[in-house]
Amino acid sequence: MSNSLNKEKLDSILRVDHAGETAAAKIYDGQLAILKNTPVGPTIQHMKDQEQEHLDTFNKLLVENDTRPTALLPLWNVMGFGLGVASAVLGEKAAMACTIAVEEVIGEHYAKQAEILDDEHKDLKSTLIKFRDDELDHLETGVEHDGKSAPGYQLMKAVVQMGCRTAIKISEKI
Ligand SMILES: [Fe+2]
Ligand SMILES: [Fe+2]
Repeated sequence: MSNSLNKEKLDSILRVDHAGETAAAKIYDGQLAILKNTPVGPTIQHMKDQEQEHLDTFNKLLVENDTRPTALLPLWNVMGFGLGVASAVLGEKAAMACTIAVEEVIGEHYAKQAEILDDEHKDLKSTLIKFRDDELDHLETGVEHDGKSAPGYQLMKAVVQMGCRTAIKISEKI
């Protein structure tokens, strides 16, 4: 018996990644709504543009693989935008703390997925590794912009990461 991924597992990977990139793009949209015309605006815009590229890739992959998106896409849109706005309202450091929290989880998530993909899915595997690198760049950006010194950093990180991990679990299934 082959240990290659079945269609169900592949669908689950594409669905959760599409959901995550939808939310990621919305988080940066929300942050830009508040911080666009500040010194950190172009940095956030750059991350937003990369999330949009990631999202475009998964939109294409969903169509190619005949995979339906998560049923909760509208929810992730609203939650992502809300998290972006809420973090940015607290200031630039809080926005960057949010980035650190989110990107750490997404980076780990892509690394784990890439690990289970074999040669049969080497294109997808290299896409996920490339995206993981982008997410880790975003994490680094958050650190460089002093996200870790945001007031309440540890608590905020814990709450945001718990939310991300829950959203991942849900989007893998529905
Ligand atoms: Fe991304
Ligand atoms: Fe990212």
